[in-house]
Amino acid sequence: MHQRILILDYGSQVTQLIARRVREAGVYCEIHPGDVGDDFVRGQIDQGLKGIILSGSHASAYDEASMRVPQSVFELGVPVLGICYGMQSMAQQLGGKVEWSDHREFGYAEVRAHGHTKLLEGIEDFRTVDNHGMLKVWMSHGDKVTGLPPGFKLMASTPSCPVAGMADEERRFYAVQFHPEVTHTLQGQAMLSRFVNEICECTGDWNMPDYVSEAVARIRETVGDDEVLLGLSGGVDSSVAAALIHEAIGDKLTCVFVDHGLLRLNEGKQVMETYAGAMGIKIIHVDATEQFMGKLAGVVDPEVKRKIIGREFVEVFQAEAAKLKNAKWLAQGTIYPDVIESAGAKTGKAVAIKSHHNVGGLPETLNLKLLEPLRELFKDEVRKLGVALGLPPAMVYRHPFPGPGMGVRILGEVKAEYADLLRRADAIFIEELRSTVDQVSGKTWYDLTSQAFAVFLPVKSVGVMGDGRTYEYVVALRAVQTSDFMTADWAQLPYALLGKVSGRIINEVRGINRVVYDVSSKPPATIEWE
Ligand code: XMP
Repeated sequence: MHQRILILDYGSQVTQLIARRVREAGVYCEIHPGDVGDDFVRGQIDQGLKGIILSGSHASAYDEASMRVPQSVFELGVPVLGICYGMQSMAQQLGGKVEWSDHREFGYAEVRAHGHTKLLEGIEDFRTVDNHGMLKVWMSHGDKVTGLPPGFKLMASTPSCPVAGMADEERRFYAVQFHPEVTHTLQGQAMLSRFVNEICECTGDWNMPDYVSEAVARIRETVGDDEVLLGLSGGVDSSVAAALIHEAIGDKLTCVFVDHGLLRLNEGKQVMETYAGAMGIKIIHVDATEQFMGKLAGVVDPEVKRKIIGREFVEVFQAEAAKLKNAKWLAQGTIYPDVIESAGAKTGKAVAIKSHHNVGGLPETLNLKLLEPLRELFKDEVRKLGVALGLPPAMVYRHPFPGPGMGVRILGEVKAEYADLLRRADAIFIEELRSTVDQVSGKTWYDLTSQAFAVFLPVKSVGVMGDGRTYEYVVALRAVQTSDFMTADWAQLPYALLGKVSGRIINEVRGINRVVYDVSSKPPATIEWE
């Protein structure tokens, strides 16, 4: 059993970042809703609980209707760190004073550290002329702690937020009004590491090489002699899940790779070469291009297209599964953010903008037990696991690709002709991103972007090529930088690179005579065009 940190979530957009920072410090952690009962919290002690972190929120701690922190959090004798709303709740529930305000302020702040607390000792960004240690942080305050609870002392302050941090070192309770989990707080990782490694005394027992052998043992124990079925999409999650399960049970794993005809150039071939060829995994390759194209003919609405692709995928998969009589388990590459997201969707806290079709759907209809060996991992951990299992790094560090594939990158009706043009344009874009190195960072533009692809616009524009007039389609290039895919900036690719990509696409892909670059950030745009 691993030592663990419990993160109670009060609805902040950045709670997942807390978990990632804790994991980066080599400590296992889980996020649970902030209103879990006291029994749950007390039960965590037997699960290796070493400390608790209370997240921020959009709610006001002052508001009677907002979630209270389970009282047991303060009674278990483990260290507690409150962040933003977590700090206000801690103050309020332990006898301090919180003042409400309907005016919220977000942004950069310089915070002065007071006295020497174990949390902040020796951690600073600069010193003032009076020799005070200062921290550059990302602060959000509206409601403020205006009275310290008994036993607490002041840990940090700013002129507009006199109690920006407080601590009761005897009980090992710490709280900050700013957000250590975001990168804008320069020493945020140092603070969270200090909390989990030193204050909670976690030894950093969460690391990838150990994880592989533990996960392999767990899979063997769970499935015994049963056979397992897995839908391989070629994406990172399902590939790593396949490699891990294969490591555990070898030939008792069968993968089904459904090619819907909307994959990237040579993707089907690559998947078969890597997994069936190099790794020796049993894979059934189903070319269902015609079936998908048939069902998509004439359909222009993005949500309807997504639903059709999702439904056909299930059908093809189900038909293949029916042939494998001995399979008792269905493996899926569900990862921790999917788990949190679908929990959020269940409680109605999340708003669905697009219907993603890779979570759920399959199990009920198939009558198989569900095996999800990655459900406690974040994406970066899945990638490390993939490398530890011997998958090619270029595969593991590929940009994400949506389940509906090019189906949501061909605007409006999907046609085989469009898919073919788009595949070739997209391959040129990716090839150039991979081969162009940024002189400042020394990295390729593929690595400097989080996701990049081409989009097919079914409109024709006039051009001139040689002596002739052309009247052909348009391709848009999309490249974004993001750490969580919830928000994203359009990537400021060098003009020379854009020029080269455009020139190559127009010259090499007959049928495209114009290339445009998408300069919209998310929000308000989304990353995919549909
Ligand atoms: P949006 O377009 O919502 O995309 O900003 C955010 C991220 O999600 C990916 N995406 C999907 N992934 N199935 C998937 O597996 C889907 O249906 C789907 N739709 C969007 C998108 O590529 C981006 O990385």
